[in-house]
Amino acid sequence: MDVEEMKRMAAYEAVKQVKDGMIIGLGTGSTARYAILRLGEMVREGIEIIGIATSKQSEKLAKKVGIKIADLNDYEEIDLTIDGADEIDKNLNLIKGGGGALLREKIVATCSKKEIIIADERKIVNKFSFPLPVEVVKFGWKRTADKLRKLGFEVEIRHGFVTDNGNYILDCKYDGLENAKEMEMEINNLPGVVENGLFVGLADEIIIGTKDGVVKKVSMHNK
Ligand code: 5RP
Repeated sequence: MDVEEMKRMAAYEAVKQVKDGMIIGLGTGSTARYAILRLGEMVREGIEIIGIATSKQSEKLAKKVGIKIADLNDYEEIDLTIDGADEIDKNLNLIKGGGGALLREKIVATCSKKEIIIADERKIVNKFSFPLPVEVVKFGWKRTADKLRKLGFEVEIRHGFVTDNGNYILDCKYDGLENAKEMEMEINNLPGVVENGLFVGLADEIIIGTKDGVVKKVSMHNK
């Protein structure tokens, strides 16, 4: 079974939890794309949902397949969000932002009653190693990069990329990321940083597409 099939299986399993009348957070990336496409089919079959998109790219796709899109400001809570991830550790913490949508993804995740993460089996890791995406304002970004280097990261600007919020992404390599929650907060404390791609305690359920079918893991942590 190829990777695309694993992504699709995970996405299709996740959308089974979508019910008529729900407000749905729409993730970003090639795995979340399968969920949006399936939701589009469900809308055409008669289900009524409202989507809150985590990126302009997902908004465009959702509209194309017939999903109504709304502004997060108009809804106090999202019933269910389905999103992807770059890496998932054994505590179901995540690294996200490979697609550069981490800020809106984190805002949406924190406003969701339930956050389902869908991924293929390659994304499950013992230790994080995916370069951590950090969204920074353009003003003085090189100085923000210096501050991240002082925290021990090897920092590279994502060339030619500007986020939906008009900011830059710094991809930060590291030897080890031991205490994810502390690191998440330490990075976000730096002036110039808008948000980073560590998602700690935000995933409620993980649905993984594997060669042998779909595997689910439910989180024990409280948001
Ligand atoms: C975008 C993300 C994506 O969820 C992440 O990059 C995974 O993408 P893909 O499903 O294409 O591997 O965080 O900001």
